[in-house]
Amino acid sequence: MILLARKNRPIFPDDYVEEKAEEYNNSISMERNQKRSTLLSLKYIFDRKLRDNEENSIKTEGSILFLDLGCGTGFSSEILIEKGYRVIGVDILADMLLKVREKKKKYQDLQGIELILADINYLPFRNEKIDFIISISAYNFVTHEVGNLRNKIETLNNTAKSLNNILKSRGRMVIEFYPESEVELEIFNKSFIKNNFEGFMIKGNPNQKAGQTFLLLNKKHFKFN
Ligand SMILES: C[S@@+](CC[C@H](N)C(=O)[O-])C[C@H]1O[C@@H](n2cnc3c(N)ncnc32)[C@H](O)[C@@H]1O
Repeated sequence: MILLARKNRPIFPDDYVEEKAEEYNNSISMERNQKRSTLLSLKYIFDRKLRDNEENSIKTEGSILFLDLGCGTGFSSEILIEKGYRVIGVDILADMLLKVREKKKKYQDLQGIELILADINYLPFRNEKIDFIISISAYNFVTHEVGNLRNKIETLNNTAKSLNNILKSRGRMVIEFYPESEVELEIFNKSFIKNNFEGFMIKGNPNQKAGQTFLLLNKKHFKFN
């Protein structure tokens, strides 16, 4: 029973440091799952249903800058680079980022990934810098060290607010994560709605409250007369 729980749910950060970072990076199933979720997130981010009128049309051409939150060993960033986007990968663990650096040295195509060692909760970017944000299987951890529900809500609100600030005015974001419960899903969701995002949610399994969840979020655009 304990083994199953550990297998399914990473014990952050133990599952991503030292030899675990190596293991993660060498795991074919992990790479496949991360890349599959990234491709789905990309499909969602450019989905016209999220906002479909000329005034609020999104940027789909030119130099597009993606922020990959909790980029790990770079599986999601690799997909973004393959598609021709500029990418900044942020992760809190040097061991994970080192794996991306090793890949950058080996593969010319990955040169374009810029790496920043930082906490999603304290991002070092100026306002309106980023076109799109994705976060694949990492956002669960933003409340990792936060004690009670009230503090979790406060952390989530502060982080959602800062993500809204760093996105450009037609910016979009897809957060793919695994809420542990209905309450967790609700507090994560609400933190975005409260902080100037709008959008909708897609569940990996619509019958499950917890489990894989995609939050498709659009930075609200205010029109001044
Ligand atoms: C499952 S891995 C991410 C996988 C990544 N999408 C990829 O393609 O490899 C989760 C990552 O989130 C990172 N992480 C957890 N909490 C974080 C935080 N507060 N700030 C930045 N990164 C964080 C972990 O260090 C870990 O590398």
